[in-house]
Amino acid sequence: MTLATADADGRVSARIVLLKGVDADGFRFFTNYESLKGAQLAAHPQVALCFHWKLLREQIQVRVEGAVSQVSAAESDAYFASRARGSQIGAWASLQSQALPDRDTFERRVAEFEKRFEGADVPRPPHWGGYLVKPDRIEFWYGAKYRLHERVTYVREGRSWSKGLLYP
Ligand SMILES: Cc1cc2nc3c(=O)[nH]c(=O)nc-3n(C[C@H](O)[C@H](O)[C@H](O)COP(=O)(O)O)c2cc1C
Repeated sequence: MTLATADADGRVSARIVLLKGVDADGFRFFTNYESLKGAQLAAHPQVALCFHWKLLREQIQVRVEGAVSQVSAAESDAYFASRARGSQIGAWASLQSQALPDRDTFERRVAEFEKRFEGADVPRPPHWGGYLVKPDRIEFWYGAKYRLHERVTYVREGRSWSKGLLYP
C-alpha cells in the first residue's frame, strides 16, 4: 500500500510498505522507527494509505486516513521473530533513510551483525517495529465506464460510521 506521511512543516512524503494485517483495530505495517517515515510519524501522527487493484472490476482504489501509533513491543517481537534471518540481520544493519556512502559500507555492516549474532537468535532491534493506523475515513472507489465511477465514503462518528457518496 502507499503510505503518505507529513512532517511538522506540512512537507509530505509517500512510499510503499507492506500491509501486514488489517482487522477491527486498523491497519498494521512494520518499519524502522528511526527512518524518515518514523521521524515524520513522531512529528505528525496522521497518515493516509492508498491501495490500487488494477485488475478487479474496472479498477478499485481504497483510501484510508487516520491516526497512527506504535504497536506493543510484544507484537513487534512476535512479528520480528517470524521473519527470515536475513531480514532480521538487515533490520540491524540498515540505518534506514540515512545517507549511505557506498554499498560496501552496508555490506560490511551486514557481515558485522551476522558475526555478532552467530549461533544465536536475532533479537528485535529497538528501532524496528510496527504501527497501527486507526482509520477515521475510508473511501472505496469503483471504476466505471466513461469515468462514471462510484465513490463510497465511510466517516467515523464516535463509535459508528456514516456512509456517503461523492461525485467522481
Ligand atoms: C513492494 C514494497 C514493499 C515495501 N515494504 C516495506 C515495509 O513493509 N516496511 C518498510 O519499512 N519499507 C518497505 N518498503 C520500502 C519503502 O518503500 C521505503 O523505501 C523505506 O521504508 C524507506 O522509506 P522512508 O525513507 O520514507 O522512511 C517497501 C518497498 C516496496 C517497493
